[in-house]
Amino acid sequence: MLRNVVSAKLPSNLMLASSTEPNAVKSAAIQPLITGSSAMLDLKGKIAFVAGAGSVGPGWGNGKATAVLLARQGAQIFTTDIKEAAARETAGVIKEEGGVCAVHACNMTNADEVRAAVDACVKRFGRIDILINNCGGSAAGDPVSMTEEVWDAQLDLNLKTAFMGCKFVLPVMEKQKAGVIINISSIAGFRHQVAGRVNVAYSTAKAGLAAFSRSTAMAYVKKGIRCNTVIVGTMHTPLVEERLVKQLGIGDAATLIAQRHAAVPIGFMGTGWDTANAVVFLASEEARYITGIELPVDGGISAGRV
Ligand SMILES: NC(=O)c1ccc[n+]([C@@H]2O[C@H](COP(=O)([O-])OP(=O)(O)OC[C@H]3O[C@@H](n4cnc5c(N)ncnc54)[C@H](O)[C@@H]3O)[C@@H](O)[C@H]2O)c1
Repeated sequence: MLRNVVSAKLPSNLMLASSTEPNAVKSAAIQPLITGSSAMLDLKGKIAFVAGAGSVGPGWGNGKATAVLLARQGAQIFTTDIKEAAARETAGVIKEEGGVCAVHACNMTNADEVRAAVDACVKRFGRIDILINNCGGSAAGDPVSMTEEVWDAQLDLNLKTAFMGCKFVLPVMEKQKAGVIINISSIAGFRHQVAGRVNVAYSTAKAGLAAFSRSTAMAYVKKGIRCNTVIVGTMHTPLVEERLVKQLGIGDAATLIAQRHAAVPIGFMGTGWDTANAVVFLASEEARYITGIELPVDGGISAGRV
């Protein structure tokens, strides 16, 4: 009775745990969580390892916007990219804004390079609180037209990179008894866009990535580590102009951009910042009760057809 009276006056996140609940549950439930203030989404003191933190061209890709937004919320960033110059560009923005950022060239498909990058991050910052697995990209093809080499490369780029990130970062997080992992998937893994191009390996890898995240989330759910997937929809990132126009053989970027806007129920493509906003939320304490989910950031694509 007393418990009910006290609980009724407290915000739900401060409700008292029952005496029959296990200690771990009790201590988590009574940790105060400040909400509804400027302290929301505060990442001060957190260290974020962002894999694929560069952008394929000028502007704001998902990884670049995510790294910068994590820094704006107070996190210190360890940027990695297979293209060092791309990571440097992101780091330059963060430093210009007064943030702290290290750069490390790394092919996230290569175990030795990922191990070395994780070691370098721990050496520099002492810990890893947030891991963002952003590496990815699509190649067209059905099972017959796609070569075995392209299939293997697509699974490596879109799925193995996340496996590698988790393989070497999870032991660090386990020692800390805390950490958050966010894997960047694609709507292509869940819905085929009518009249869209076929990219079997990309779709397969991105669907697999969500399954990988769920399994990893459950493997570490009692260890203070959360793992979630952001399902990115049809976005206007630099890869539209830099890669897709050429890959799809469309004469000009404006035509492709208009087609992509029209294919989204909400009426327009999202940007790298929409992805970044979702990632920052999932990385924050405000999302402490969220693990093993897929969060679509897709302007309604997964809910209905245009
Ligand atoms: N832009 C979209 O419309 C869209 C839609 C759905 C999903 N996505 C997903 O978003 C993610 C990336 O988006 P982005 O806008 O940041 O793309 P981007 O291509 O601009 O940036 C990705 C970065 O990853 C780096 N990279 C590639 N392979 C790597 C490797 N093996 N090791 C380390 N770094 C590597 C690239 O050099 C690049 O700088 C991908 O996972 C992609 O599948 C994008």
